[in-house]
Amino acid sequence: MFEGFKITKLHLKFWIIIIVLAFIVEMCIVPWLFLDKIKKGGSAGRRPPTEIDPDTRVPSEGPDGFSVATYYSNWSPYNARNHKPADIPTSQLTHVYYAFFVVDAKSGAVKSSDSWSDFELPLSVGVKGCIKELQKIKLESKHEFKTILCLGGWSNREAYKKIAKSEKKVKKFIETAVDCMFRYGFDGIDLDWEFPEEDSNEPIVYLEMMRGIREGMDQLERQIFGSPAEEKDHPHFQLSVATPAFAEKLNILPISEMSKYVDIWNMMCYDFHGEWSDVTGYHSNLYLQGHSHRRSLSNRISNSSLSSDTAVKLMTDRHNISSRRIALGMAAYGRGFTNVETNDDNYLGKKYHGVGGGSEGEPGIWLYNQLPIDGSKEQFDSNAVSAYCFDPKSRTFVGYDNVQSMDIKGKYIKKKNLNGGFWWESCGDSKDPRKSLVNAFSKEIGLSEGFVSLFKSDKVKQFHLQKYPKDYISSLFQKL
Ligand SMILES: *[C@@H]1O[C@H](CO)[C@@H](O)[C@H](O)[C@H]1NC(C)=O
Ligand SMILES: *[C@@H]1O[C@H](CO)[C@@H](O)[C@H](O)[C@H]1NC(C)=O
Repeated sequence: MFEGFKITKLHLKFWIIIIVLAFIVEMCIVPWLFLDKIKKGGSAGRRPPTEIDPDTRVPSEGPDGFSVATYYSNWSPYNARNHKPADIPTSQLTHVYYAFFVVDAKSGAVKSSDSWSDFELPLSVGVKGCIKELQKIKLESKHEFKTILCLGGWSNREAYKKIAKSEKKVKKFIETAVDCMFRYGFDGIDLDWEFPEEDSNEPIVYLEMMRGIREGMDQLERQIFGSPAEEKDHPHFQLSVATPAFAEKLNILPISEMSKYVDIWNMMCYDFHGEWSDVTGYHSNLYLQGHSHRRSLSNRISNSSLSSDTAVKLMTDRHNISSRRIALGMAAYGRGFTNVETNDDNYLGKKYHGVGGGSEGEPGIWLYNQLPIDGSKEQFDSNAVSAYCFDPKSRTFVGYDNVQSMDIKGKYIKKKNLNGGFWWESCGDSKDPRKSLVNAFSKEIGLSEGFVSLFKSDKVKQFHLQKYPKDYISSLFQKL
């Protein structure tokens, strides 16, 4: 009995030690797991979704053919640019991205950035505001194209940062984003936060925005069309992301988690060089620059690591994103540098003083239709794939896309089987059909009719009238 008691006591000690050990191990492992999430960008209480909501549609790879898209800014209709929605060559496009609605830093709500341009500006008979004009063109067009509402942009970047700190504001952002999209007749949302920062909760908040918006879109689709199973073939609202085209900002995003919600990654393959750069360089080159001009043997050849092709490969190879979800961004503007220090015909990787610019308010920017600069000749670097010109008087160098680069980029998109291409921004293109970037690109890539607008469907129009009777664009549907 005495012996037995001893054994039991020993057992007890053994179990106490095991429990204490288990407790210690758990204490070590749990925070470690948690830390791992924080390192990936999560903050306390915010966990990235590990499983997709069963109700949430996995984005499809989209229709056959290639997207041909352009951004249209709501400052285009003013003065010097004087580019109205009716001037957008929609018969050659699959998407018009309407830029920008902005984030209100105080409330998180999405709102118009210029209510005069968006809603008031008198355009065609009886139509006020660029939005209604654009949606009217879409409804009346025989050729299908989508209109997408863009949220944010470079000048709105601080607001995204601010609302990211509040779950309530992020929720408000998501609700109002989906509401504005549908209320104003758009077929989707393009998120443009430039850019979430590393070592913060911003990348994970961006992911949450995408998930929330996708859920909001799916819910709206269920309300309009009934359960997804019954109406598999109805068109879906589109979610795209204006995506940084360089590793530093791209690799901090939880790309594979985001890809559960994102239909198209709009890679911003431009602004590779600009007024912020130490030396001159192209800004929308397809391949790495510095391979041409070798014969000058300059020791100042710029060896920039930025190119469109590098960005595309990052997405496909490192992040395992299907090429069919990637759209290649192209520029309807050039970026220039003045007083370039060069003695020969090598203009890359050179010191410069000032950037000049033929487009007011935007240092260093020339719209494509202002190029080449008067008195200079357009030249082409077929290795990097960029047009450029050099004005000897002001010693100004400008790199840009032209008809020739459109042809090569079009072939690239077909060969790589990308989703398509887009331009920032519509007002920069040439009115001369022989010089038009959209023309040259379309000729190479063809025109897909698959990018159907939801607002061509009677069900959608009826639901809209029910939800927003007598709202800004309702009159477009009442007439039909
Ligand atoms: C350019 O940079 C890459 C990567 O940093 C390097 O491998 C290569 O040798 C450099 N080329 C020149 C010409 O400096
Ligand atoms: C890459 O994506 C495909 C499908 O999108 C998937 O089947 C595959 O497992 C992924 N590969 C890796 C390494 O994640």
